Amino acid sequence: MRIDILTIFPNMFTGVLNESIIKRAIQNNHLEINIIDFRTYSKNKHFKVDDYPYGGGQGMVLTPEPIYSAVRDIEGWEKATKVMMSPQGNKYSQSDAKRYSHKEHLVFLCGHYEGFDERIRDLVDEEMSIGDYVLTGGELASMVIVDSVVRLLDGVLGNELSHEEDSFSDGLLEGPQYTRPVVFEGMEVPKVLLSGHHKNINLFRKKESLKRTYLRRPDLLTGLNDEENILLEEIKLEIKYDKNLDK
Ligand code: ADE
Repeated sequence: MRIDILTIFPNMFTGVLNESIIKRAIQNNHLEINIIDFRTYSKNKHFKVDDYPYGGGQGMVLTPEPIYSAVRDIEGWEKATKVMMSPQGNKYSQSDAKRYSHKEHLVFLCGHYEGFDERIRDLVDEEMSIGDYVLTGGELASMVIVDSVVRLLDGVLGNELSHEEDSFSDGLLEGPQYTRPVVFEGMEVPKVLLSGHHKNINLFRKKESLKRTYLRRPDLLTGLNDEENILLEEIKLEIKYDKNLDK
């Protein structure tokens, strides 16, 4: 996969691209990332990339020229999926991460100031927000997206990690996980996990995952299969029973 990121703050990406899994993905040629400082495409003698909004108002607006020039200078830009980072975009989710992980070439456009000249929207395919809050710019948002996409690329996580059991990957939150010791400050690892009985362990995990999703993110409980629906009914009864015991 190739990723191009347009920004006027290229240094913000240094840490993220030079550590851990993304660094390894680049070293192992799963990924090529180019950070493009679109300020260098400004024709202004002071390399300005923003200007006052027509009609007045507060703040500055990114001008279209340097961004159009920078994008058009990317090899294969026409075929690439071009994504503008913006709090006005579609809300990013794991399904977008999966969709992007199948693309050959992604281009992210990170804005600053009050916003983009509206005509820049004509250049991009999608507009993405990472949540209902406003960041100082699109850089952190693009890093979040890149991180979530790169770990899904074939071969990137290797054997030591797997994304198949991630929260959201089957539409549910992941249940609790335990490692050594068996007892920590009186808190015990559930016995079933020590039993070696894979069928029971899988059932336990599925049920805990459903329970956690029911308690924390009931909005995700759509499209359950018959077995999951039965388990969910069991969970609801158990929760009701536990509540009655507390009374
Ligand atoms: N730029 C500023 N805020 C943002 C957000 N929430 N998501 C994506 N890009 C942004």
